[in-house]
Amino acid sequence: MNAFRVPQRLLLGPGPSPVPARVLQAMAMPTIGHLDPRFLELMNETMEGLRVAFGTRNRLTVAMSGTGSAGMETVFVNLVEPGDRVLVCVHGLFGERMVDVARRCGADAAVVEAPWGRAIDPDDVRRALAARPAKLVAVVLAETSTGVWQPLEAIAAAAREHGALLVVDAVTAIGGIPVDVDRLGIDACYAGTQKCLSVPPGLAPVTFGERAEAALDARRAPVQSWYLDLTMIRRYWGGERFYHHTAPVNMLYGLREGLRILLEEGLEASFERHRRVGRALQAGLEAMGLELFAEAGHRLPQLTTVRVPEGVDDAAVRRALLEEYGIEIGGGVGRVQGRIWRIGLMGHGARRANVLAVLSALEAVLARAGARVPRGEGAAAAEAAWEAGGGAEEGGAAGAAAGTAAGTAAREAWEAEGGAVEGGAAARGEGRP
Ligand SMILES: Cc1ncc(COP(=O)(O)O)c(C=O)c1O
Repeated sequence: MNAFRVPQRLLLGPGPSPVPARVLQAMAMPTIGHLDPRFLELMNETMEGLRVAFGTRNRLTVAMSGTGSAGMETVFVNLVEPGDRVLVCVHGLFGERMVDVARRCGADAAVVEAPWGRAIDPDDVRRALAARPAKLVAVVLAETSTGVWQPLEAIAAAAREHGALLVVDAVTAIGGIPVDVDRLGIDACYAGTQKCLSVPPGLAPVTFGERAEAALDARRAPVQSWYLDLTMIRRYWGGERFYHHTAPVNMLYGLREGLRILLEEGLEASFERHRRVGRALQAGLEAMGLELFAEAGHRLPQLTTVRVPEGVDDAAVRRALLEEYGIEIGGGVGRVQGRIWRIGLMGHGARRANVLAVLSALEAVLARAGARVPRGEGAAAAEAAWEAGGGAEEGGAAGAAAGTAAGTAAREAWEAEGGAVEGGAAARGEGRP
């Protein structure tokens, strides 16, 4: 077998996102035992870093072994027992997947839907809960299949009013837009490493609040999945250090370093950077005459969806971007397959230069495919939007400025745990655009 040669790629799709050298270097450190005292310290530091990223003080905040879908399964297998009624908000593929997972756990699942590209109407959630109580309400904060940023405040209030637990998918949200677990009263939340945290795929950060832990403790039957059973896993991540399974040691080195980079920049600064590049990209695409897919006012900055123009071959354009420019963007999935492109500016990839790179390459490829594209206008509009900078008018961006008390407390705890920056890397401007 020959050595594997990795092609040069600029990852501007729906994930994975570009991984900074610091994270890769951290992952290349020698493997130590998963019960080594030094590794246990790293686990504590990682838990503190995750608390900051989630905006929570929840004790049960861990990184599950597996990708974002393992996070989704963790929440459902631990909270749902056969016959439990759940309400799932579906406005894209990942909402649909939650219904599938919930039903596999034996849930009696009801659904509140919004057309793909639009946000869920919280009044629909309220009405559904009034008509039929549920043990939990589940919703995707950043729907990667559609590019929609779902506001959570009113859905959280409805869940609280009706005594239901609130479960949130923050796979694409974490690090890019506020998740604010404590401020919103989210009971259980899961994420992934390969989007705005810029760590390779392989871990699923999960946090459970007191009410969710109480529901776990009140289960009638053991959790159906041995591997994802939090009643055991919390004993490994907690003080007991009870052996459950061999932790993916080097992945955790990578996650810790990814969190360290995020905290050096600061959560709010990261949100602002994503907001600014997202606006620039969206302005550029519109100036090229392309139509954005997600409804205005609910567009994610880190994941932009755009309609494939009439008569243009979706796959041929993506292939040309990859083969000729080394740029990966995503196609549509599920019911929008072939109809949209998904462009991610996530984590380390959320840079001004990448906005220009993808706009220019897309313009060249579209022009060659015979589409009518005004030359140079996309890049000019993107630069103008970038220069215009501030002004938080998009979607839930107002939330970016709010509710950071939990984040501040968690950050202080992270520093106390020894997660503080060594050697002032932030001051040297390392690891960030
Ligand atoms: C919103 C959302 N939820 C869940 C997942 C599943 O994560 P993974 O593919 O890492 O298993 C993804 C992956 O793209 C996602 O975007």
